[in-house]
Amino acid sequence: VILIIAGTDRKNSNTRKIANHVQALFTENGAETQLLDLAELQQSSMGGPYYGKAVGPDALVRAQELVLNADGIYVCVPEYNGSMPGALKYFIDHWKYPDAFEFRPFALCGLGTTWGGLRPVEHLQGVFGYRNAFIYPERVFLREIYKIMQDGALTDPFLLDLLRKQVQGFLAFVNALKAAGLDANSRRTTASPS
Ligand SMILES: Cc1cc2nc3c(=O)[nH]c(=O)nc-3n(C[C@H](O)[C@H](O)[C@H](O)COP(=O)(O)O)c2cc1C
Repeated sequence: VILIIAGTDRKNSNTRKIANHVQALFTENGAETQLLDLAELQQSSMGGPYYGKAVGPDALVRAQELVLNADGIYVCVPEYNGSMPGALKYFIDHWKYPDAFEFRPFALCGLGTTWGGLRPVEHLQGVFGYRNAFIYPERVFLREIYKIMQDGALTDPFLLDLLRKQVQGFLAFVNALKAAGLDANSRRTTASPS
């Protein structure tokens, strides 16, 4: 399963709309998906006692299970004040580590105005890289996001094609890591008992 994260809790966000497109592209390429929109994960379900543990209120545990069981994780991230939204970092800070990060494949797409979310994407590369994730090298940046969304949809064939190629490449990346037994889930199932 590929988990797609819409990385803001802003209701009716452009990020969620792009995540819907990305989900359709994964489906078109035969992948099973789950979509997690941070607007549906109450911030009140997180907090001090639950950092890094995969425990806590049901909604948080379920969200963490999606992360821990995914074969690959695709994050759509908007730029807020030169970085990722605090809500996304706050959610990530609740993930169980190293399990939620280490040897887990990630792909990234940024949204923004002038720079198309370059900064939050690179900040996320720093975070996931620090935690030993496998980061798919091809990223997509959606610039001038207010102009390219027509009635809430992405219609530009060039941009849709960039996303399609990235999705196809990421699926090949996930499958190659799995075939080699390198990704987190393969290690978990093939590890010899100690
Ligand atoms: C709090 C906030 C801060 C923002 N800061 C930036 C920014 O620093 N750079 C940028 O390109 N866009 C910025 N934007 C615009 C977002 O990139 C834009 O709203 C876009 O639609 C993606 O966000 P959304 O998913 O919330 O719709 C900001 C938006 C908000 C709500």
